[in-house]
Amino acid sequence: MGVPVHVGEQFANIWSHAPQRTIIITDAQVHAHWGHLFGERPCIILPAGEEQKSLAVVEQMVNTLLELGADRGSFLLGVGGGVVCDLTGFVASVFMRGIPFAFAPSTLLAQVDASIGGKNGVNTGPFKNMIGVFRQPEFILNDPDFLQTLPESEISNGLAECIKHACIRSRDYFGWIGAQMGPIRERRADVLEFLILESVRIKCAIVEADPLERDQRRLLNYGHTFGHVLEKRHGWPHGVAVSAGIRLVNRMALDRGLLTTEEEQRINGLLLSAGLPEFEDLQHYSELLLLVRSDKKKEGDHMAFVLLQSIGNAVIERIALHD
Ligand code: GLY
Repeated sequence: MGVPVHVGEQFANIWSHAPQRTIIITDAQVHAHWGHLFGERPCIILPAGEEQKSLAVVEQMVNTLLELGADRGSFLLGVGGGVVCDLTGFVASVFMRGIPFAFAPSTLLAQVDASIGGKNGVNTGPFKNMIGVFRQPEFILNDPDFLQTLPESEISNGLAECIKHACIRSRDYFGWIGAQMGPIRERRADVLEFLILESVRIKCAIVEADPLERDQRRLLNYGHTFGHVLEKRHGWPHGVAVSAGIRLVNRMALDRGLLTTEEEQRINGLLLSAGLPEFEDLQHYSELLLLVRSDKKKEGDHMAFVLLQSIGNAVIERIALHD
């Protein structure tokens, strides 16, 4: 049985899932909007931002947990975006050798991607998620109200991952996103709920089949190999970098005779309609190959790339990284 994911449920209902001795982990932005829902529960409020994903912050959080009287009977609830989910899952995994945890993700990106999958990690130096664990939350609760106060760019950011899920696994979902883009961007609750359910379904199915990323879970890295390099280099938001990474890796698939130009254009069109910009000065993928050498997924002088054969149908190919 997989992790229970409650989609469309209000945060007010969380106490029917989380135990009495819950400590909330959140960030200052989320707390400013939603802290009134937390009641009297003890709370660790982090500054917002990716810089928090470090071992130094993990140590501070452990110390704060001890000051709050946490022990092996405690439970952590991460309420926030991807950074909060990662830190909550990681700290819960190492605190006193592991206590249970859950997520109430507050962004579309975290609801469809960061909260799902069991990878929890922190960065070291310039490298993302180099220190981490595989460990699943007890449950995930996706409150639709959290999405209504987000800036528009955050909806686009999350849509990059939804489009990724569609590209690698479901042509029907891809068509549905295209047909519903207007209502999605207007945040119509029923349409957002289906969007989230479908992405969660696709990601959970892949993760359950290959939890430790030995094989097909690598499909989820579609667009991320170049995307991570661009995110680091330019400081672009994750979804913007992933959408650029999708465009680049599709060129690679095109050059290898896998994807057709027509399918490539359909994907580019969908990314654009999601508010994910085109970059006219985007480098050719061959220039970025050198920069991906340090990626943790490199295998010798080769690297696994996820390439599309068509929309909904992805393959993993090992490609040489030349000097
Ligand atoms: N936490 C994100 C993942 O496991 O993919």
